[in-house]
Amino acid sequence: MCGIVGYIGCKEAVKVLLDGIKRLEYRGYDSSGMAFIQNGILHCEKAVGKIAELEKRLNGNNFHTSLGIVHTRWATHGAPTTENAHPHVDCNNEIAVVHNGIIENYDYLKSKLEQEGHIFKSETDTEVLAHLIEKYFHGDLETAVMEALREVEGTYGIAVISQKNPRKIVAARKGSPLMIGIGNQEYFITSDVSASLEHTRDVVYLDDNEIAILTPDRYETKTIQNIRTHKKVEEILWNLDMIEKGGYEHFMLKEIHEQPQSLRNVMRGRVESNNDSVRLGGLIHCEQDLRQARRIIIVACGTSWHAGLVGEYMLEEFARIPVEVEYASEFRYRNPVIEKDTIVIAISQSGETADTLAAIREARQKGAKILSICNVVGSTIAREADGGIYLHIGPEIGVASTKAFTAQIAVLYLFTSYMRSLRCPSSPLDSNMIKDIQSIPEKIQTILNMEEHIIELAKLYKDSEHTLYLGRGYNYPVALEGALKLKEISYIHAEGYPAAEMKHGPIALINKDMPVVFIATRDNVYGKILNNIEEVKSRKGKVIAIATEGDDQIAEKVNHVLYIPKTTDVLTPLLSVIPLQLLAYHMAVMRGCDVDKPRNLAKSVTVE
Ligand code: F6R
Repeated sequence: MCGIVGYIGCKEAVKVLLDGIKRLEYRGYDSSGMAFIQNGILHCEKAVGKIAELEKRLNGNNFHTSLGIVHTRWATHGAPTTENAHPHVDCNNEIAVVHNGIIENYDYLKSKLEQEGHIFKSETDTEVLAHLIEKYFHGDLETAVMEALREVEGTYGIAVISQKNPRKIVAARKGSPLMIGIGNQEYFITSDVSASLEHTRDVVYLDDNEIAILTPDRYETKTIQNIRTHKKVEEILWNLDMIEKGGYEHFMLKEIHEQPQSLRNVMRGRVESNNDSVRLGGLIHCEQDLRQARRIIIVACGTSWHAGLVGEYMLEEFARIPVEVEYASEFRYRNPVIEKDTIVIAISQSGETADTLAAIREARQKGAKILSICNVVGSTIAREADGGIYLHIGPEIGVASTKAFTAQIAVLYLFTSYMRSLRCPSSPLDSNMIKDIQSIPEKIQTILNMEEHIIELAKLYKDSEHTLYLGRGYNYPVALEGALKLKEISYIHAEGYPAAEMKHGPIALINKDMPVVFIATRDNVYGKILNNIEEVKSRKGKVIAIATEGDDQIAEKVNHVLYIPKTTDVLTPLLSVIPLQLLAYHMAVMRGCDVDKPRNLAKSVTVE
């Protein structure tokens, strides 16, 4: 959600900043802007729309500089206009600020600053920061930033430059990620490592209430109370290939196709060679708590919440522990009961989702032990948890989550096996459980190989106005996920339901124009789902079934079948979701939608 890049060094900063911010475009893309200092004067250029618009404006001029900041925006306060795009400047056009997050007391600060004579040009909360820093500027930018931030309530990741301190970038963080990239005689400040990966793998993560001061030859970190901090330099293990499209038309398609490999990566080093136990290094210090735990609460949002639902079914079935899955945003505001021996697990691809982060903070206050399942190493949720499991699947850049969903389920499966061996030593892990998941990558590949068939189906249904997704048991969360994928990238209205719930309301929608996708694999509720299919067919609905290979019976009952290989019930979601991801992708592409950057969305929702 919004992206920030700052650069100071000996390269041509405008180019470095543009290249960097393009890598973050998936985080926000309604407007963008850059500020830099050239010949002692602050310049600021902004444009509405994708970063290409900003690039056009910059390329028309002959700018040369070694220092600047750039931002791509996902609007929160104020429409996506040039005035509201970042950077925001003070009254004299001398200080420029880019900001991720929300200044909660901006109304109060704005009216106070206006009374003091400051003139505002935008509707954003961010602009108060530029004026506050102006107010406190008495020759030193970092002191002014620290003073300004002491008045601010809310969340921020900011980068600030001033023509009065022309060889300095000051950055600060509270609740919105920011890191320093340490290159060879150059420094970066970014909200996401991918922006500086081309230049360096060495990063320092800022903590909340910390500021960084970057000059051409050094960087320094302090608390906003002006106390020096000493930070560890960490090495990023991602490489450049992982953040490029690698010949695919979209990141989303690349990530769908990466799933066989990403699931192998999830399992690597975690399954003992004799296949009878699972090793999860990130949980070593929590083993005793997990053994004693009486309840697990999973908190997450969106796709990660769907993965959590699959986790609930697995953990209850195989590890025999009560599990609840909560929307993180609801959990934090409803004063939940957390008893002794409750474990809260946050699932978040980005590790930065504001609601999920707030939920674990709430749970910790109430005494829960916190675990995380995240993809982004060093992300805030991963760092705040007591233990956790990383997905290790490389960056997910397509805004619609795909490979993270399957990896989260695979991690939950390994966690279930681990919990079973901890808590039910008398019924040891069935070694087939491990063999079953090891065969999944190959099975996903066979589904990916039938993409042409899915494309034909997409052609038939691309003009639908609505679609219903129905599943039961382990496939109920898959129905929710299939519907979410379709609606978010194609803008077709789609709903997911437990199939049996259809007759309690949604059945009223069924007519000849309503496609219904049934996930009807040969599992313990297969017979029931056939009944639900009949109910739709008898009302002339069009049925697309995701079925198990070898099921000849179903073909006569439905309009179209997509077959997936057989696996155990618990692992079925890892297969049944693949055709739904591809179907959503191709329908969206055929409708001319920008699948990697769907309207109004952004990767990593760092505001509530
Ligand atoms: C949907 C999607 C979102 C995210 C949600 C949580 O395709 O990507 O629903 O799953 O915003 O994000 P994370 O997992 O980063 O916490």
